[in-house]
Order: sequence, then structure tokens, then C-alpha cells
Amino acid sequence: MNQTSRDGFSSRFGIFAAVIGSAIGLGNIWRFPYMVGENGGAAFLIVYCAFVLIIGIPAMLSEFIIGRRGQGNSYRSFKQLAPQKPWYWIGLVGIFAAFIILTFYSVITGWTLEYVAIALKDVFSSSTVVQDPAQVFEHFHTQALKPLIWQIVTMLISAIVIMLGVRKGIESSAKILMPLLFICLAILAVKTLTLPGSVEGLRFLFSPDFSKINSGVILKALGQAVFSLSVGMGCLITYGSYIRKDVNMSRTAFSVAIADLLIAVLAGIVIFPALFSFGMAPEQGPGLVFVVFPGIFQQMIGGVYFALLFFMLVAIAGITSIISLLEVIVVYFVEEFKLKRVFATLVAATLACGLGAFSTLSFGPLKHVKIFNQSIFDNSDFLASNILLPLGAFFVVVFLGWFYDINQIKDELGNQGTLKMRLFPVFMFIIRYVAPIAILLVFLKGLNIF
Ligand code: PFF
Repeated sequence: MNQTSRDGFSSRFGIFAAVIGSAIGLGNIWRFPYMVGENGGAAFLIVYCAFVLIIGIPAMLSEFIIGRRGQGNSYRSFKQLAPQKPWYWIGLVGIFAAFIILTFYSVITGWTLEYVAIALKDVFSSSTVVQDPAQVFEHFHTQALKPLIWQIVTMLISAIVIMLGVRKGIESSAKILMPLLFICLAILAVKTLTLPGSVEGLRFLFSPDFSKINSGVILKALGQAVFSLSVGMGCLITYGSYIRKDVNMSRTAFSVAIADLLIAVLAGIVIFPALFSFGMAPEQGPGLVFVVFPGIFQQMIGGVYFALLFFMLVAIAGITSIISLLEVIVVYFVEEFKLKRVFATLVAATLACGLGAFSTLSFGPLKHVKIFNQSIFDNSDFLASNILLPLGAFFVVVFLGWFYDINQIKDELGNQGTLKMRLFPVFMFIIRYVAPIAILLVFLKGLNIF
């Protein structure tokens, strides 16, 4: 398939917005803050930043190279680069990982839509009855029907964007939604930083407690870094295949990683000052955003408007990431099974909703179903984030570093000799030695294998 017959991104900003749309998601706004809260504040942040630099950026760039060189979905790109070799399995496992992430990611994104609906209701109602946020959350997320409906709505919205195509759907929506997300977050940061007592929260976020760092926490930081950058499962291979040949991919990878980090830190700057200002503990786990925040908004002047802004922000972040996950599967169906894009999207979304229902229900009717002592939701998250994504990232860098022709890498990364490549030796050194060894050590130690 050549470049002209494939849909693709049109402008530099469009590429940036779409990749950033995938990277910035619940991982930044929902997952990152509670991980920081549970695992030693700034100490976790430092380990996390190190992983972004030595693993996240090189792995992201490796995926871009494979995708743009291979010009296909994540399975086909590997086949293109290594015909007759089994490397395409990495692509296939990536597509499977995208599917697993979709099943549980759409649960939380669905919850955020319920909270947008609640906030909208509050904006337009004159009722002053104050409800206990913990009870509201407990009542909502343990039911069967409502969370399922929101999960389906989430998937439908994302499916519509995917059906519109890469340029008209993914790129155009990201170009509007990403700046909107940034504006919402900036407004919220200004608001929470001016709350009395907010300095405590900043101190928590920026002063490290190294006593909390152990091998389990280090694995979580690695899992969080690859999850947040959408690395390790073919998503960036797929998006890489849509990047025009004249775009400087190193610059794109670097700026996306930095923007992703900044947004996660900015989310922390919004969340921790508010927590401390209202005397709440930072170790709240996944309920942080859904219990603590509504409580804080109730006590704020104009809180309903901020609640609406906040949950819209989280919903946008979630949906743009779901779009990228869905695209990985849809383009695989389209290219390998010759399905029409619309039909492929419907199949992928239906499958993801069908299996995702088990994750949704694992908070309610299926609460007692435990596998390895964890709920279905937690198992899916663990399998994807702490096993499949780090392994995916490992094989991607190993493939490119050891099993692909270095001249081809240089050619692709340097846009056929038109770019200066001073850092190329550093990149090769990282993908050959630093990143694989670091991933392997963290991975084996974190799983208690040695
Ligand atoms: N990067 C997204 C987040 O931080 O929420 C999640 C994600 C999207 C992971 C796409 C993996 C992926 F391929």
C-alpha cells in the first residue's frame, strides 16, 4: 500500500495533536495523581521522569520508525520490515493489548460522562440538597445498567470519530479537543493554586519521600510511563504509519513526551493543592477523582461550574485515547481482512463493549469474582499496563536495535538524509542497551522473579 492511497495526517500540528490526544488521557489525569499520592509523591515523580527519558521517548521513536517505514497496521508494519520472521507477533500482541486496555479504559471514561451529566444537572437545577460524594459514587459505580450505558455511549462517540477517518476524524477532533483540554486544565490550576493552604499540596507533589520506593513501586512507575505515552502496543506504530515523510519524528516524539509529562504534573498541581486545602488524604486510590473532587467542588464558590469543566476535561482526555486504541484494531481489520472502515469500527467497538461489560460489572454484580485475588478490572489493568506494555516496549526496541538494518533506521529517522542527526549514536545506544536492560530488570524484579 503506498502513501497516496492511505489516509494520513495532514499537518505537523495535526500529528502533534493526534499523538498527544492518544498520550494524554486518564493516565495523566486519573491514574498519575493517585499513583503519586500512593507511592511517595515526588520520589515517584523522579523515577517516572527517568523512565520517560530513557525508555519512553526512545520506544516512542522506535514505534514511529517501524510504522512509517512499514506503512501499515502494527502487524503489517513488522511483516514489511522483517518478512519471513516472527516479529509480527509483537504487532499482534499489541493489537490484543489495545483491546484489553479498551475494555477497562472505557469503564472509567464512561464514569466521567456520568459526572459531566451530574454537573450539567447541577448547573441548571435550583436544588440546594447536598449529597455525600462517597455515597453518590458508591451507588453509581456498583450498579449494573447505568455504567454499562455510559460505557456504550463512550464507545459510540469514539467510533463515530474513527468512522470519519484519520484526517477528518482523528486529526480534526484532536486539533479542537487538545487545546480545549489545556485551557480547562489551566483554568482549574489557577483556581486551586489560589485556595488557602494550597502550598502543602505543592510541597507533597514536589518533595520526595524515598522510603516509599521499592521494586514494586519502580515497576509501577515504568508501567505508568509506558501507559501514559501510549507505548508498547502498536498504537504509535499505527499513528507512525500516518506521519508524512517530511516530518521530523524525533522532534515530534520529544515534544509529545514533554507535553504529556507537563500535563500530568499540571493535573497534580490541580489536584494536590485542592486535596490539602480541604484537609483530605492523598492516598485515595482510583476513587480520588470521583469522590474527593466532587466533595471539594461542593465547598467551592462556583463549584458546579468547575465540576463541569473538570469532568469534561477528563472525558475529553479519555475519549481521544480511546480513539487511538480503537484505531489500532480497526485499521488491522481493514487492512488484513478487507473490511470496510465503518463495519470494522462497529465490530471492534461491539467486541470491546462486550468484553468490557465484565470490567464494568466487576465493581457491582461481579464484585466477588476474583482472579489472582484481584477483580476483573484490576486484572485487565495489571495485564495490560504492567505486563503487555513493558514487554511490548522491550521487543520494539530490541527489534530495532538488534535485528533491523541500522542504515534503514538512519534513513527513516533522518528523512532520507535531509536532517542533521547528532544524537543518533545516543539513540542507538539507548535502544540497544539501556532501554532493554532497564525494562528487563524492572520487570523481573517487580514481578518478584529474582
Ligand atoms: N496514554 C493513555 C493515557 O495516558 O491515558 C492511555 C493509552 C492510550 C495507553 C493508548 C495505550 C494506548 F495505546
